[in-house]
Amino acid sequence: MILLDGRKVAEDLRAKLTLDVNEFTKKFNRAPCLKVIIVGDDPASHVYVKSKHVACQKVGMLSEIVNLEASVTQSKLEIEIQKLNIDPDVDGILVQLPVPKHIDLTSVLKAIDPMKDADGLTFLSTGYLWSDFEHVQPCTPSGVIKILEYYGIPIKGKRAVVIGRSQIVGKPMAALLLKKNATVTIAHSHTENLKHVIQESEIVVVAAGKMGFFGAEYFNKSHVVVDVGIHKDENGKLAGDVKFAEVSPIVKAITPVPGGVGPMTIACLLENTIQLAKMRMR
Ligand code: GUN
Repeated sequence: MILLDGRKVAEDLRAKLTLDVNEFTKKFNRAPCLKVIIVGDDPASHVYVKSKHVACQKVGMLSEIVNLEASVTQSKLEIEIQKLNIDPDVDGILVQLPVPKHIDLTSVLKAIDPMKDADGLTFLSTGYLWSDFEHVQPCTPSGVIKILEYYGIPIKGKRAVVIGRSQIVGKPMAALLLKKNATVTIAHSHTENLKHVIQESEIVVVAAGKMGFFGAEYFNKSHVVVDVGIHKDENGKLAGDVKFAEVSPIVKAITPVPGGVGPMTIACLLENTIQLAKMRMR
């Protein structure tokens, strides 16, 4: 079994990004800058946002967290986004998800300037993604592709199934696998005979959001399994959608949780911000 170590891939990527940031900073006399808006006080979201902030600093980028209270109005949130859109010193904007229920996410995504869309989640970025136009790509799916490529896992011509169809992972993951010439299926909660769909695939990206749902009965020795799930179990330990202990001995390759996809998401966010900074300064 090959352990697909996302921490190692992220470390290598961060080393490269540190050089990129140095070069950018010398050339333009300022470092690339990411602003993260967080609405409300969800503890997990605050932990993620802090990790993003620290990761920016480690590669020499500027970063600031904009904290807005949970009761913030739609218009106040969109005004904050507009301020960042027109600030010449800001290269990347990210609104941490989820946002409170009273906030209309579609309208928030429309408010972000696609040329500052560090998450690659605006509708223009999505259109570019499906049109093979050069632009930033959503961070988690981009990280998954980088892990597969780092470990020399063939994608071209292979059958891949993405379990989950979210805007943030499932759909863009399918687009990126297709771009790499895989034959792609998107499975979801209504898919009939999921086991059969998985058995027919070589690459299985699990983003179902169900802790420990996928056990050994779903997999065999030809499977490359990428687990995007991240949950806290009853003992406070992090766990994925896949039962790692029983699945890892029987598959060809697998990402652990933690230490798989998670570290790559943040590294790819940094990469996106640097890419946007370069595009704006062209
Ligand atoms: N919440 C969990 N993951 C993400 C992410 O990649 N981007 C944003 N904006 N919010 C998230």
